[in-house]
Amino acid sequence: MKISKFEKNFLLLGLGAFFIFSIGASLTTILPPLIDADLYRTDHPVHQYTEQELRGIAIYKAEGCVYCHTQQIRALPSDQKRYGWKMVDAPVSNSWEYVNDRSSFLGTKRTGPDLARVGGKYSSEWHWAHFKNPRNMGEKFNQARGPYQNASVMPSYNFLTDEQIKDLTAYIQTLGRNLDWRKDKNGVSLNDYEN
Ligand code: HEC
Repeated sequence: MKISKFEKNFLLLGLGAFFIFSIGASLTTILPPLIDADLYRTDHPVHQYTEQELRGIAIYKAEGCVYCHTQQIRALPSDQKRYGWKMVDAPVSNSWEYVNDRSSFLGTKRTGPDLARVGGKYSSEWHWAHFKNPRNMGEKFNQARGPYQNASVMPSYNFLTDEQIKDLTAYIQTLGRNLDWRKDKNGVSLNDYEN
């Protein structure tokens, strides 16, 4: 096979590769905010993170929760039903809901459930017990079907300090609450940010 002059010249090859790369980079990072201003600002009321929640975000990032959890409800009935609450479908995620986020936790892999609408689903006490030992939270231990039947594969975060678990929980409780969609049977909002 004949090798072209272009392929032999490392400088040309490098520049060519960089050129191709920059087309992709500008299409995915520079162009979208120019076309859709909603990616960076919005008229919707968006929750401003407190100091404690920001510390929680840093822990979420450092612990790599994003490797197992996504934060996006897609426009698919399976997503909306799966992450809904008391027979109410979870609303599809909107780009404006993320304007205050400085790290992207959209994620690509769902070893665990999506967390985009998990805020308010459980009490903070539940999260406390879950972070301490996720395997406590499963259904009854069933020896006949193996020791970990029904138990979670989420690792324990028992090594975090009590303060860190509180910070992380405070952040988790904000997720998805830019939309007021959890209501009790009388239509009263359950969108309180208890910690
Ligand atoms: C190895 C994969 C893995 C990692 C890493 C992981 N999780 Fe999980 N997570 C799971 C699985 C699986 C479940 C479902 C079973 C359960 O509830 O424990 C889950 C459940 C959850 C739930 C309950 C969701 C619901 O709707 O019931 C929350 C909240 C959660 N994880 C938060 C976190 C946070 C925060 C981190 C990082 C500190 C984290 N997870 C790291 C796998 C993981």
